[in-house]
Amino acid sequence: MKVCEKAKQYSGKDVLILAIETSCDETAASVVKNGRKVLSNVIFTQIALHTQYGGVVPEIASRKHIEKINQVIEAALREAGVTLADITAIAVTYGPGLVGALLVGVAEAKAISFAAGIPLVGVHHISGHISANYIEFEELKPPFVCLVASGGHSHLVVVRDYGKYEIIGRTRDDAAGEAFDKVARAIGLGYPGGPKIDKLSREGNPDAIPFPRAKVAQNEYDFSFSGLKSAVLNYLNGCRMKGEAFSQADVAASFQKAVIDVLVEHSLHAVAEFGYDKFAIAGGVAANSALREAFGRECGKRNVTFYCPSMGLCTDNAAMIGAAGYYEYCRGVRSGLDLNAVPNLKL
Ligand code: KG4
Ligand code: ZN
Repeated sequence: MKVCEKAKQYSGKDVLILAIETSCDETAASVVKNGRKVLSNVIFTQIALHTQYGGVVPEIASRKHIEKINQVIEAALREAGVTLADITAIAVTYGPGLVGALLVGVAEAKAISFAAGIPLVGVHHISGHISANYIEFEELKPPFVCLVASGGHSHLVVVRDYGKYEIIGRTRDDAAGEAFDKVARAIGLGYPGGPKIDKLSREGNPDAIPFPRAKVAQNEYDFSFSGLKSAVLNYLNGCRMKGEAFSQADVAASFQKAVIDVLVEHSLHAVAEFGYDKFAIAGGVAANSALREAFGRECGKRNVTFYCPSMGLCTDNAAMIGAAGYYEYCRGVRSGLDLNAVPNLKL
């Protein structure tokens, strides 16, 4: 990024971002140097806590964030070998997400910014997911097409420049991750569904059950997963009514293949139509092993370079917020102490 490179030349100093992420059920903090190098990446995951309820309970998530946030930030600074005096700016996720969960991170970031006199930069959670690719691939520069598939979003995005996004496709109903979680619950796998379906699918036949691949008439890049979810539920009900056993692994593998087919087809159609030779994936669903394999194979056939962050950078973390925050900071973005959590923040 030109602005930051210039700033560095003049001052000879690295830009260190302290990043905070609390939008859902991970309490996370990280120190990132010059947008690409992760000095620390601390995550306290609340998954075990929410598993007993079959999904994230917002009140419990907020309370746990409050309990853990200071420890997580202290650990991130300690592991990076820095103190607040070394930090150039604080980046914090301020949306989208659960309002009570977001508020914990935002309030904490504002308090540190005020007390230590460090500039504050609010970051969009999805911009963070996309920016995880910058950490993993030093050579990656916009423009490129990115598929963001998480628990709350399924967006097909043209990344025009750092922090400059154009959403060309989105889900009309359920997000891809949400479909994974709901189907997992229906076949008795529990929460969180994505990783469990991923694992079980390896033992199943992806062509066993012909689940539908939805097309959205008005926009070729949009997604719809609720019909697929209903088809799985109908299949399970049909089996129960007939007193027939069903194979959990076959249902999981067939469902997963139906999701992946649609994601791959729409994404690579966009890459071709927009004429880019770079494609990236991001978000929790990007951790799916069959999805990574399918995109790797299909991009290879088309001479498109495929970027996919390591599994730990796909699911929620603060390092990705540090990377996105760096580019926002370089563009001159500064948030005031009136920064608020915005649960439905637009990209
Ligand atoms: O990005 P993320 O950690 O949080 C949100 O911003 O939503 O995504 C969480 C979602 C969950 O729905 C989870 O089931 C899904 O990502 N997920 C996966 C896998 N790992 C996480 N879905 C499919 N396969 C996986 N291996
Ligand atoms: Zn996320």
